[in-house]
Amino acid sequence: MKHPDIKEILISEADIKKKVSRMAKILNKDYKGQKPILVSVLKGSVVFLCDLIRELDFAPVLDFISVSSYADSTESSGVVRLLMDLRESIVGRDVLIIEDIVDTGLTLSYLKRNLLTRKPKSLKICVLLDKKECRVKKIDVDYTGFVIPNKYCVGYGLDYCQMYRHLPYIGVLKPEIYRKPQ
Ligand code: PRP
Repeated sequence: MKHPDIKEILISEADIKKKVSRMAKILNKDYKGQKPILVSVLKGSVVFLCDLIRELDFAPVLDFISVSSYADSTESSGVVRLLMDLRESIVGRDVLIIEDIVDTGLTLSYLKRNLLTRKPKSLKICVLLDKKECRVKKIDVDYTGFVIPNKYCVGYGLDYCQMYRHLPYIGVLKPEIYRKPQ
């Protein structure tokens, strides 16, 4: 059932499931027999991570990092802040960043730069959603689920003011919801 604050469902639960399986299959080939560290970028990517890892044949190590550039706004502040660092050392390890969405590219550019200074063996990026037309910083993504238009999306981990992350689909928020004062 569609949440009343959602204008339209952009990607259904079934389509997400199919895509996540397809992405897992590709990762299973590329990381066969390896033990990469999956770096999940909190908080948005956790739902994607949880579904993805349950389809993996290799043995991933999970770690989490928290950055923020949006605060409670719908627009990136342009300043990426590291809120919580990894627990694991990634020196000499294969690292795969797991993200829900790449928009301006500022978050992933910052993360890539930051993690590369720690000398991993390899560093790749896996994102479910790509708002290609919004890119400010060029960033090469290795695994992409869906390219989506520039609409304010929530659900499947994505939030507006920390809400709607639990929705099982990706939906477009009604403009009157994010335009009204909180
Ligand atoms: C969102 C998303 C990405 C980032 C992408 O995070 O999860 O990390 O924005 O945007 P960019 O490409 O323009 O940098 P947010 O800062 O909203 O935090 P959250 O994951 O906790 O919701």
